[in-house]
Amino acid sequence: MSTERILIIGSNGQIGLELAESLRVNYGSENVICSDVRKMDHQIEPFEILDILDKNRLLEIVNKYKITQVYLLAALLSATAEKNPKFAWDLNMNGLFHVLDLAKEGIIKKIYWPSSIAVFGPTTPRLLTPQYTVMEPNTIYGISKQAGERYCEYYHQKYGVDVRSIRYPGLIGWKSAPGGGTTDYAVHIYHEALKNKTYECFLSAETALPMMYMPDAIRATIELMQSPAEKVKIRSSYNLAGISFNPEQIAASIRKHIPAFTITYKPDFRQAIADSWPQSINDEHASKDWGWKLEYDLDAMTQVMLDNLA
Ligand code: NAD
Ligand code: SER
Repeated sequence: MSTERILIIGSNGQIGLELAESLRVNYGSENVICSDVRKMDHQIEPFEILDILDKNRLLEIVNKYKITQVYLLAALLSATAEKNPKFAWDLNMNGLFHVLDLAKEGIIKKIYWPSSIAVFGPTTPRLLTPQYTVMEPNTIYGISKQAGERYCEYYHQKYGVDVRSIRYPGLIGWKSAPGGGTTDYAVHIYHEALKNKTYECFLSAETALPMMYMPDAIRATIELMQSPAEKVKIRSSYNLAGISFNPEQIAASIRKHIPAFTITYKPDFRQAIADSWPQSINDEHASKDWGWKLEYDLDAMTQVMLDNLA
């Protein structure tokens, strides 16, 4: 029987819905408490309404369920954050402080907090971007993720907080909808290919970005969280490579199943965000430290995405 009691904050989003499913399998449904600012129609229990900016409510839930681990997923993503930079900073940073402080005070034992490829910026080397390199993000989302990484490492070094993190690439899955990021096109394209056999992309044809099929990302997250503490050598956030492709390449992969599929391009404000991010990532530290290995390539992901969405 699991001795861990897990709280997911932001559990009804793109990652949370799939993560909750896997954590339930790993730890038992009764030990995984979901929470979000919004309740869904067919909400899986146990569930609590929680605004992460409300520190007292957070403490109340943590005490009620005797929580040992928190997965903090509530945040504004890159495109949405650019539209509301002040609120994005408030949510992305204060949410993290509230959880880090619970661990500092010894109330919880372990934290998972996701970072992003958005921590890199236009002056970062864009091919096979290393773990340690120039980091000058120029989006409010990237700035908040970089500051978050620095705080995670600080809380670990200064207060011994066991916080773990991955710089996710763009995540692609069929079970849940993306929540306002620059990489969202790579989910929309599968839906539109099946529905209309055509897609208008908000990034240009040659815009390559690192992406990952959701089950790989969820497995990486749980593997990192279950690794012995001494193996987790990086307490800012780990690079994770995933699959790198551009819109033309994902369209070509879809055409292997739907030959009539066409794609057109109408870049918008998200193009500038994508242009500031890496095209591919070096994740040798994750492989070396805790044995990370990717499973799905582009064609394998396309096959499962289309099969399941159909
Ligand atoms: P999402 O937008 O799909 O989900 C976020 C969830 O948080 C939503 O259900 C929302 O209702 C909830 N939420 C918003 N404000 C809240 C608040 N004040 N209190 C509690 N809950 C609140 O986002 P996601 O894609 O699931 O991303 C989760 C985390 O992973 C974020 O930190 C994001 O930056 C990071 N990440 C995601 C990706 C990706 O491609 N999805 C890539 C890199 C990093
Ligand atoms: N998928 C995320 C976004 O586009 C990357 O963190 O915002």
